[in-house]
Parts: sequence; C-alpha cells; structure tokens
Amino acid sequence: MVSMVSRPGVLSLAGGLPAPELFPREALSGALSKALREDPGALQYGGANQRLKEQVVGLAAERGITAKPEEIVITTGAQQGIELCVRAFLEQGGGLLLDELSYTGIHQSAALRLPKWAEVPVDLTLGSDPAAARQLLSECSAGGESMPDLAYLITDAHNPLGVSLSEERRVAWAQLLSESGIPVIEDDPYGLLWFDEPFADPLKARIPEWTLYLGSFSKILAPGLRLGFMIVPAALAEKIGVVKESADLESSGLIQRAVSTVLEGDFLSEHLARLRSVYRERRASLLDALDKHMPEDATWTQPQGGLFVWVEFGRDIDTAELLRRCLDRGLVAFLPGAAFALPGSRAVERARRSMRLSFSSLAPDVFDRAIATIVRALEEPTR
Ligand SMILES: Cc1ncc(COP(=O)(O)O)c(C=O)c1O
Repeated sequence: MVSMVSRPGVLSLAGGLPAPELFPREALSGALSKALREDPGALQYGGANQRLKEQVVGLAAERGITAKPEEIVITTGAQQGIELCVRAFLEQGGGLLLDELSYTGIHQSAALRLPKWAEVPVDLTLGSDPAAARQLLSECSAGGESMPDLAYLITDAHNPLGVSLSEERRVAWAQLLSESGIPVIEDDPYGLLWFDEPFADPLKARIPEWTLYLGSFSKILAPGLRLGFMIVPAALAEKIGVVKESADLESSGLIQRAVSTVLEGDFLSEHLARLRSVYRERRASLLDALDKHMPEDATWTQPQGGLFVWVEFGRDIDTAELLRRCLDRGLVAFLPGAAFALPGSRAVERARRSMRLSFSSLAPDVFDRAIATIVRALEEPTR
C-alpha cells in the first residue's frame, strides 16, 4: 500500500510531510557552511547548545510560555521527547491517559511498557473531552486502580484530527490534571503553524509544573534536521537529560549550531509568514472541495493550523477499502483512519469510517479533482 500511495502521478493527501519546496535550504546551507568553516566543535561530541536553549526560550514566549534555559532539553525531534517521557515517567503496566484517536508515535513508544490505556473521547470541534476524562479517572479510583502515570495531549492542530482544544476545555484539562497530579506530555509540533491568529495558550502556560512540553523544528524548518526541544520543570530536566544521554549522547552539534544561526535575526518570522500563507491557501482549497463534493453523512474538522483535516462518514464503510478503490480508479491517496486507533479499542469502528487528509503538499488547484475522485469512488457500488 505504501508503495502504491507514493507512486508517481498519485495525488497524495496521505503523507504527514511538510511541503519540501518550503524548506529553507539556502538559509540552512549558509548556516551549515559557517559552522563547518568556523567551529571545529560542530563536529565534536558535546552538550546541548546554550545559545539554542536561549532562542528556544524566545520561541516559547511566542506561545505564551515563560521558560528559562535550564528548563530546556534539546531533543532529536519531538518524537524523541515522547520516547524520553515514556522512559522516564511511564512504569511497566502503568496507566496512560490519551485521546481515543491520536498520533501513532505515542502508541509506538508507549506500547513497549504494556500500559493500561485510558482512552478519552475526542470530538471534531472542541477536541479532547476533559469531562469524560474526569469520569474515567473517577472510575479508576472507584475500582481501586491507581491513577495513570502520564497523560498525552496535542492541544493544537491535532494529528490526525486537525482540531484545537477549545478555551473552555483547556481550562478544564488544566484543572483536572493539576488536581489529579498527573503529568501531561503536551505535544506541540504545530503550535507556531497557525493560519489566521495565534492559538490560545497551551497547557504549559497554564500548569507549567505538570506539563512536559514538546516542541519541534520539523514543521517550521525541516524534519530532516531531526531537532526539537522539551520544556520541563528544571528539577526534571536533569533526570530527562540522563535518559537523553543514554539514548544518543546528544543531538547533533552541527545541526544545533546551524539552527541557532538560522534563528538569529528576523529570518524565522519571515519564514513562518510564508509557511502560513501557503498552507492557509491549501487548507482553504481543500475545505472548499469538501464543501462542494462531500455527501450529507460526512463531517470534517476546520483546522486553524497544522497540516490535516479529518473526515468521518456516517455510513458503515471501510476507508482502507475505499483507498484501494481510489488508487485503482483515480490515483488519489489518503490515510485511512484505522491507523490512529489502538487495535481492539472502542475507537476502531469510528476510525474505520474515517480518513485523514493532508493539505500540505498539493497545489491548491488539484484538491477539487482529488476530493471529487474520492467521492465518486465512495458512491459507486462495491463490486
Ligand atoms: C503530533 C506529532 N508529534 C510528534 C511528531 C514527530 O515530530 P518530530 O519530527 O519533531 O520528531 C509528529 C510528526 O508528524 C506529530 O505529528
């Protein structure tokens, strides 16, 4: 299936990849050459780059987060941040509270701990439901079970759903987590990739002592850099630093220096403005095409940023089978929703009749054709 989806000529809404034509290749190339030319330390073993930590403090401020350099852990991408949190805070067989439809990277990292998954319903307009989570937690304590070790949330531009948590739900989540004493991994790789106005304050700005915040340069510069960061209470930074060291000694010194050089001056704000304008236009074209072609029983998210729209059908269909038909007939690809539900969970049925569409990598004028093709394949009688 993967090779069919990436075949030349396929209009792919399947990948979660940022648009390669937007990678800041020139800026990075200059910064890499400078580091190689001027600083032999760039190729040496070494610790985290102090200047980069200070710059991360500045980026965090744009998200409404007040941080100090000693609270920053530089990571090899947000994915490593997830892995480090799991290693440091999730016991074998411990509980993990997370959305019933979520980023597969948390499933993969946590699965080795054989956790007790506590799955929270999530809806397409308000996001993850804190009232349902509160209910789950009270059932836990009524049944004599211990509280989950950890929670995992994507506050803004959720992958795969594209939804952002409503203000009311942010407040309720912050209250629930701090009251119950459950640390939360707040995974925020899309936090600066808003389109119309900045996202509301994340949990890290509200309950900093309970939040293990993950940021990434993958979506705002390029994923091939494999660079991200965590913002955690200073007392935990040391513990996480030890786990990080055991994982890879340190993230590449060369890449840290190059990214730090790129972050000096106004480059990033200009680059972000360009990303926002290109993705905003692509999102609008995809949403227009959905409005025009989708049948009555389909509902979808209205993302305020990020890369994804999630579509759910009311009818009983299997989107994996629909994908096969789309590839046979029209050369269009998307990601069937089943990838984002835990096997055997309550959400499997919902995920089976859903799909994730990425608007990141297609030109605005092809969404109409892509969605029309999917809907034709959906409506045609199955053979
Ligand atoms: C929600 C979420 N978390 C983490 C990641 C991984 O990010 P990184 O490339 O920084 O490891 C992704 C990548 O798509 C993602 O969507």
